[in-house]
Amino acid sequence: MVQRPKVLRTLPALRRSLARCRAAGETVALVPTMGALHEGHLSLVRLARRKSARVVVSIFVNPAQFAPAEDLATYPRTFAADLAALAREKADLVWAPESVAVMYPEGFSTRVAPGGPATVGLEDAYRPHFFGGVATVVAKLFIQALPDVAVFGEKDYQQLKVVTRMARDLDIPVRVIGAPTVREADGLAMSSRNVYLSPAERALAPTLHRVLVDCAARIAGGRPVKATLARGRDTIARAGFRLDYLEARHADTLEPVRSTRDGPVRLLVAAWLGKTRLIDNVGVG
Ligand code: PAJ
Repeated sequence: MVQRPKVLRTLPALRRSLARCRAAGETVALVPTMGALHEGHLSLVRLARRKSARVVVSIFVNPAQFAPAEDLATYPRTFAADLAALAREKADLVWAPESVAVMYPEGFSTRVAPGGPATVGLEDAYRPHFFGGVATVVAKLFIQALPDVAVFGEKDYQQLKVVTRMARDLDIPVRVIGAPTVREADGLAMSSRNVYLSPAERALAPTLHRVLVDCAARIAGGRPVKATLARGRDTIARAGFRLDYLEARHADTLEPVRSTRDGPVRLLVAAWLGKTRLIDNVGVG
């Protein structure tokens, strides 16, 4: 029988538990999630485990990062299964606010507004509310838990960069660590939203990763970025996706790049299959 992690439902309870860890001289790692945990999330928990004595996993479906027309109401919620998985991974604490009002009490009026090159375009062009909502809740989570380390997935590459910048800009003393994307056997990046895919869409979905890998290999081999991406966009559209973007950016700053001479390159894509929006990214070289 594996020991269940302790579930904290209110901020005073979280703070009491963490104060005990700190008094014992233990370091704390935080893994922020919205639940519906899969192997991708659990890989972050494993990395956090290696980095610190105590691991806190937060589970909070954050309304501030969903636009009115998005899937807040239907976002998968699987708390019992999440807890069982976190017990197997030996997470110590689960920070699961008992209501939205714990995070956003009546009268809540502040929003963190991330800026700079990492917020220009890509996700921000299609979900303009998103990074403000993410930065606000992640800043709150950092201040609530005061972790030494926080682990985020490269699956949400732009989010990882925005959060890293935000913590640095606000002098929050946390080390933000990125973890590689965990994929299904056919290459599809694991995502809580993959459950929305119909069997036919699920069969098509790995095309996105295949195109990314193909474009990355061509660019690494010296083909021009612009023409390679144009071809990639075409392949994605002809496969039956509705493409939001396929772009090449500087892997660190996320500034647009025209060739590998501009620095390390990351390819990022977002596309719809029916009602499901998928995102993915890979490094070049
Ligand atoms: P969520 O989508 O639940 O993801 C939580 C963390 O898991 C993020 O850091 C994300 O990048 C990582 N992750 C998701 N799929 C992954 C995969 N296949 N491989 C590796 N890591 C993966 O991202 C959010 O929640 C929210 O925006 C949050 C940061 C919690 C703020 O509300």
